[in-house]
Amino acid sequence: MQVETILKKDLLGSDTLTPEELLVLMKCTDEKELQKIYEAAYAVKKKYVDAVSYYRGLIEFSNICIKNCKYCGIRRDNDKAERFMMERDDILQMAAWAYENGYGSVTLQSGERTDETFIAYVEELLRDIKSLSHGELGITLCVGEQEEAIYHRFKKAGADRYLLRIETTNRELYEKIHPADENHSFDTRVRCIGYLKNAGLQVGTGVMIGLPNQTEEDLVNDILFFKKNDIDMIGMGPYVVHHDTPLGQYAIENHLDTPEEQKRRVRLGVLMVALTRLYLKDVNIAATTALQALDPLGREKALRAGANILMPVLTVAEHRAKYLLYDNKPTLKDEPQDAKDNLAKRVESIGDRVGWFTQGNSKHFDKRNKK
Ligand code: 5AD
Ligand code: SF4
Repeated sequence: MQVETILKKDLLGSDTLTPEELLVLMKCTDEKELQKIYEAAYAVKKKYVDAVSYYRGLIEFSNICIKNCKYCGIRRDNDKAERFMMERDDILQMAAWAYENGYGSVTLQSGERTDETFIAYVEELLRDIKSLSHGELGITLCVGEQEEAIYHRFKKAGADRYLLRIETTNRELYEKIHPADENHSFDTRVRCIGYLKNAGLQVGTGVMIGLPNQTEEDLVNDILFFKKNDIDMIGMGPYVVHHDTPLGQYAIENHLDTPEEQKRRVRLGVLMVALTRLYLKDVNIAATTALQALDPLGREKALRAGANILMPVLTVAEHRAKYLLYDNKPTLKDEPQDAKDNLAKRVESIGDRVGWFTQGNSKHFDKRNKK
């Protein structure tokens, strides 16, 4: 099967790709063919969700985490990470800045905590951000696995969407990159994604791409999982080594973090965006910072391959350097105003517009709720 033949299908219309075809495309390494795949995905983006990029101002409000994921720089056991919890007023100020500057939405992200003090704090933030923006700012929340009732509370307090990545749908690989204890369970993760839907939130998930021992077949299965679970939004990016983590150490010692390997992860990252766009069509897909960490033009490439969401970091500089999930986090020195101007230029350079002053909700979610 040839890439060219597969792309002759009417992917703008009613044809869909088969898993076998997805795999052929996922294994493509020819630069010209890759460009063809990206062009096809951009055409689908244009038709189904418009050539518009929406901003979610990212507020990383705490790096305290009860989990111990083996790849993540703010895992519980990394005692080199200096922990912080942002003041409520600072968070509200950032949200107000986003609102005044025409960002349609903000994303509140932190490490995972399940204690009532934390939950109540988040609820209050949600209410305050909704009220300071007269109900106009969309809010995405990303604070990990919770009981179903908690997701309902977050929704009631003003959360519109929730991101909970499955990380990888290969259970065996999931178990390798998370500690073997009851705190890290693949089944719980899947169950929580179901809870989010029950709570009426727009559901976001995603995976890391290019993990040690992850295959192209795994990545195709990830896309099939998104479809099967009727996911509204996708946030995914390449795995990026953090040197103070067990997986990072493993990757370094086994020479899995060479420039060639990093290039491969970027290619697969952009391909995942393109193939997810071709297969799911009307969902929101983020061009993530992790892509930019491995390739200065990573986010533009993703926008050109079908992504339609950007998440400029609003976290104040003082804390930004402590929220390090991986090495070489870009945007560490950006000020919000520069980041805003910079990104707009990048978006326009590929022929998109910025969706100022609009929430840019998932069209897939709107449709699923009209049914
Ligand atoms: N490389 C890439 N992504 C990472 N994340 C955590 N650590 C890394 C890393 N080293 C991602 C996970 C998590 C999200 C908040 O950040 O997918 O869900
Ligand atoms: Fe905590 Fe998320 Fe990092 Fe896991 S990936 S250690 S849950 S912040």
